[in-house]
Amino acid sequence: MTIAKICMVGAGRVGQLHTASIMNQLRHRAEVAAVVDADLASAANLAAEFDVPAVHQSLAEALASGSFDGAVITTPTFTHCELTLAALDAGLPVHLEKPMAMNLVECAAINDAIARTGLLVQLGFMRRFDRDFQAAAELLESGEIGVPMIIKSLTHGPGLPPAWANDIATSNGLIAEVCSHDLDTIGWFAAAQPVDIGVKAANFKGAERGVTAPRFYDTMVATVTFESGAIASVAGVCPADYGYDSRVEVTATKGMVQVGETGPGGLAVVRAGNGVKEQALYPSWRKRFAEAYIAEMAGFLDVLEGTAPKVGPAEGTQAVALAVAGVASLLSGRTVALSQVLDNPQIPSWQRDGR
Ligand SMILES: NC(=O)c1ccc[n+]([C@@H]2O[C@H](COP(=O)([O-])OP(=O)(O)OC[C@H]3O[C@@H](n4cnc5c(N)ncnc54)[C@H](O)[C@@H]3O)[C@@H](O)[C@H]2O)c1
Repeated sequence: MTIAKICMVGAGRVGQLHTASIMNQLRHRAEVAAVVDADLASAANLAAEFDVPAVHQSLAEALASGSFDGAVITTPTFTHCELTLAALDAGLPVHLEKPMAMNLVECAAINDAIARTGLLVQLGFMRRFDRDFQAAAELLESGEIGVPMIIKSLTHGPGLPPAWANDIATSNGLIAEVCSHDLDTIGWFAAAQPVDIGVKAANFKGAERGVTAPRFYDTMVATVTFESGAIASVAGVCPADYGYDSRVEVTATKGMVQVGETGPGGLAVVRAGNGVKEQALYPSWRKRFAEAYIAEMAGFLDVLEGTAPKVGPAEGTQAVALAVAGVASLLSGRTVALSQVLDNPQIPSWQRDGR
């Protein structure tokens, strides 16, 4: 069996996680052959940890000096489009972290490049690789509990994300950086097209944490309606401080299904006298979705062998459409129809000129 050579682009939180999955769990199928990071010291540190032979400061430099079978792109969202186009044009299938891009103009450019090159792109929605999320999706698809009426999805992240993700001009903020996963899940579970989205947001902790990005929000609730009539809510809080919390509940016409707990369970501690039962919480997304992240990288290796990705650019584009329409809603205070952003893809004003 040949060992696939992966170019890891980005050596931050997710680049480290995916490198560890490949080098520790999937080494019989693949290796990280080069680490690329604009910050060369970060690339060098990650490469040293896993004996990766090459480090580069740009993807262009890596493509010029090495040969690869695929690229894993884990850089900030505002770089996704340019880097994905470069990898595809160099003939490499791509695993691209969510959100797929900043806006629908960039999604269109990526979709055009996929059509032009005929190469496959897997999107980094790891919940698609989680056992319980998959089981819920299969149950809903079977029709056994009827059709979804209400879908409630929440993600609360423990701490502030990297600084670039606090600014809606460089990330669209929480709705995209954290709740992209929920936006994907509600569409997956509803198995229907979204019609519109309304978002309310608030900022509770920004000032005390020193966030200076204008229009930073750390709290949001979105309401999404679907063509099927299903209604979904997406709640996001980050930083939540208490741990990483990802849960979904679907009420359907003939039953209900829930996915997720606040912790792994299995161990509860009771100390005599205080009347409290203690149970561990998930400290981070890495722990909650540990198995799914490895399955996701294994999925990408299947993609390199020609298997269609479990989740790809169509789902990525839909989540970006919801995120962009969602930010438009929170800025305007109005519900925004998806057709408004999909029919006339534009670079949103808060990204183009900061308004
Ligand atoms: N799937 C998940 O669960 C999950 C979790 C967190 C973040 N993410 C996504 O992963 C991506 C990265 O997030 P992160 O938290 O790892 O960010 P990060 O800031 O920790 O790391 C990003 C790295 O990319 C490097 N970089 C920036 N521009 C670059 C360029 N042009 N070329 C090469 N390197 C460049 C930076 O120096 C940094 O080291 C984001 O799109 C984010 O939304 C996904």
